[in-house]
Amino acid sequence: MDRIRIVGGHQLNGSIQISGAKNAALPLMIASLLTDEALTLENLPRLADVSMLVRILGNHGVDYSINGKRPGEAAIAGQTVHLRAERVVDTTAPYDLVSKMRASFWVVAPLLARMGEARVSLPGGCAIGTRPVDLLLMALERLGADIEIENGYVIAKAPHGLKGAEIEFPKVTVGGTHTALMAAVLAHGKTVLINPAREPEVVDLAECLIKMGAKIKGAGTSVIEIDGVAKLGGARHAVLPDRIETGTYAMAVAMTGGDVMLQGARPELLQGALDSLVQAGAKVSATNEGLRIQRNGAGISPVDITTEPFPGFPTDLQAQFMALMTRAGGSSRIRETIFENRFMHVSELSRLGARIRLEGDAAIVDGVDKLNGAQVMATDLRASVSLVIAALAAEGETTVSRVYHLDRGFEHLEHKLGQCGAHIERLSNPG
Ligand code: UD1
Repeated sequence: MDRIRIVGGHQLNGSIQISGAKNAALPLMIASLLTDEALTLENLPRLADVSMLVRILGNHGVDYSINGKRPGEAAIAGQTVHLRAERVVDTTAPYDLVSKMRASFWVVAPLLARMGEARVSLPGGCAIGTRPVDLLLMALERLGADIEIENGYVIAKAPHGLKGAEIEFPKVTVGGTHTALMAAVLAHGKTVLINPAREPEVVDLAECLIKMGAKIKGAGTSVIEIDGVAKLGGARHAVLPDRIETGTYAMAVAMTGGDVMLQGARPELLQGALDSLVQAGAKVSATNEGLRIQRNGAGISPVDITTEPFPGFPTDLQAQFMALMTRAGGSSRIRETIFENRFMHVSELSRLGARIRLEGDAAIVDGVDKLNGAQVMATDLRASVSLVIAALAAEGETTVSRVYHLDRGFEHLEHKLGQCGAHIERLSNPG
């Protein structure tokens, strides 16, 4: 298995191109199941999760083709893909595929809405605590689906089609909102989602569905109204820039010091996190090229954060911010309210010399003057990149193992950091 080797202590200077958002790409790709016409997605990131979803969708009958690279186009430029589900050949999503990527469970909604049935494996274990799907199933039931769970599979049926309804989410769920949207667009009549997720990726999905012919109002607010239509068509849509990748590199620059332009980044997608970075001592300026992050001279100040649904501080940047706080000049408190057990990075950060203790749903980080390189292990997608951030500022060498977690969500990570002066390389290990 590949490892990443980092020699810390080098500032980051230069520019980094921000990729299309993984968490928007996945539901957008799944939305291709809603129509027999082609859905063209631009700016799709090259990630292991995207390739895996291509396989899963292929199993249902989605044809996939990819535009060749244009002359002069950088290897790093996002790809344009065409997805066409002219015929859905299989409404079953098997365990061996769904268990590899939780988000693929969301195929249940378009399959049910278009074909009247879906048989989708429950996603199974996940490293960041129990992640139930009860609210996704509640939404489908509200839309008139008959749901049964048999041998680890959700069997959803609506032979006469789904019916519009009012769906109130007791808790904000991104996956629940994607599912409800994709089901309701083809339901008979009107659906109202109360307390849906307001994340930018929900808005991106809604905008794409609207281009496909859906009638949706209010995405990005706390009430979404959907008027069901009989059929959706093809469309062309560009995936929005990845706010988590943006925040991750912004925190890396704040950690090492330096001056980096994050090209294509959109500050309004992560204002909450940027505010915390500014408090920590980084200078953040929006330009028409993207987002410029600088930290020169002054040290890192301690800042308390609490993760919240959008527009609050995102849980997917919690581990990276904690890495930054390990070098702050004082104590900070990092509270995680979205997922239980999302602190697996704490013990690995401690191996690098961080001083962190857990108190219930919070981590108290006492900043230290110096981190030291060590061997560490990636545990999940966002946790693993927090180790990279810490390693960039640690003295000596760090190797991060299990980097397949990073490859799920960060495109060309070592290339992007390396071209800004980080000493980082991938050690390929066959087998
Ligand atoms: C998505 C993101 C993930 C991010 C998370 C929260 C993708 C591919 N993944 O995950 O990166 O960390 O949003 O911003 O977009 N819950 C229930 N019942 C349900 C569904 C969710 O109790 O049926 C709970 C979860 O356990 C969690 C909270 O709701 O505590 C939020 O989860 P949710 O927003 O659904 O996360 P995902 O969509 O899985």
